[in-house]
Amino acid sequence: MKYRAVKGTRDLFPPESERFARAEEAARRVFGAHGYGEVRTPSLEATELFARSVGETTDIVHKEMYTFLDRKGRSLTLRPENTAGVVRAIVENRLASGPMPLRLWYAGPQFRYERPQAGRYREFRQIGAELLGVPGPAAEIEILTMLFAFLGALGFQGLVVALNSVGTAASREDFGKALQGYLASRSEGFGEDDRRKLAENPLRLFDSKDPAVRAALEGSPRTTDFLDPDSKRHHEEVRRLLGHAGIPFRDEPSLVRGLDYYTRTVFEVASSELGAQDAILGGGRYDKLVESLGGPPLPAIGFAIGEDRLVQVAPRPAPSGGLFYVLPQGPEELDEALRVAAELRSLAAGAVEVDLLARGFKKAMARANALLEEAASRGLEREKIFAVLLGAREREDSTVTIKRLSSGDQETVPRAQLAAWIAGRA
Ligand code: HAM
Repeated sequence: MKYRAVKGTRDLFPPESERFARAEEAARRVFGAHGYGEVRTPSLEATELFARSVGETTDIVHKEMYTFLDRKGRSLTLRPENTAGVVRAIVENRLASGPMPLRLWYAGPQFRYERPQAGRYREFRQIGAELLGVPGPAAEIEILTMLFAFLGALGFQGLVVALNSVGTAASREDFGKALQGYLASRSEGFGEDDRRKLAENPLRLFDSKDPAVRAALEGSPRTTDFLDPDSKRHHEEVRRLLGHAGIPFRDEPSLVRGLDYYTRTVFEVASSELGAQDAILGGGRYDKLVESLGGPPLPAIGFAIGEDRLVQVAPRPAPSGGLFYVLPQGPEELDEALRVAAELRSLAAGAVEVDLLARGFKKAMARANALLEEAASRGLEREKIFAVLLGAREREDSTVTIKRLSSGDQETVPRAQLAAWIAGRA
């Protein structure tokens, strides 16, 4: 075969593409109900934006970005995440000095040059939300309440937030130094990349998948031991309010997240159905990012859900809706079949398909019965799949013969009575 999808990218067809659409529709509905409006930012940004926000020494910027020079020699990057672009857009369009709070959500493709495996792609999709302008714990509560409303709408149950606080830049620095001290005598087995992290940005060691690093980190200092008094108070208040709001969480002292812009609250949600290191979603507070990208001081918090992973583990909804498969006996009935289909659609009786190939009842019925077998994967109710037969006789009598495929029962109905027939059965 000559042409293949680029490694780590994929094509989505029904029913899988429908699952993505369903997740995006739920996001629009639930986030909209919380006052969040949709933002769409470009897939391409200046490379410098990610280096400055996500952080030069993170895995994402250091080795996972799709970066290239355009024809004028400018360094551009396919966005590896959307928070940096949203903040850039807010600052550029002067929304950062407008009315607060600002509530935005997004859905779209992101790109990371990672080793592809189950649930990990080079082009993947995220659904996320960002709340700007709220310094207090009420922001955490709104964001996590909304997140759980969304997960609940998709039928998830029993998910728990892993929660931590990484404090301020100053407390992170103290923590980093303590970590360097702790690991100094424990880093013999580290690879070159992890040695670099130990020297440049020790927090990033928590992103390492190397068992030697993971073992060395066990019993290491915790971020929460280094929090300044305000961050500590903030964290305690977040925990207290989450309890009141009924959001299930557990403390996860080793959670630091793989991006440098976080301050104070960080969180993730994992599913036991994905591999141990694969979170469905992650997020946190980034109180300094707007300012560092040229805007005013503006506290903010948000999350991004890995849509591919979400769809993979989301409970399948019960099938709902029906299908009318209109079968013209031959080419002479095709015109009439198209009219009957239009009539059925105007009755809003579920999906309507016409056998445009007009290949005769026998062949078309074989296809219709195959549809019955596909019902579950297409989200259709078996009992609501009908073949609508249109032969010469029906055309002359202005009738249609409707056959319920699951039982084989059939009935010839005057066209004028279609609405009444459907109201009682479909
Ligand atoms: P992140 O943790 O880098 O955070 O990504 C969020 C989610 O995207 C992950 O939990 C995972 O489900 C999904 N994801 C990441 N990489 C891949 C991949 N290669 N294949 C499939 N799914 C993947 C962020 O991106 C932050 N912007 C989140 C945020 C928003 N923080 C504040 N606001």
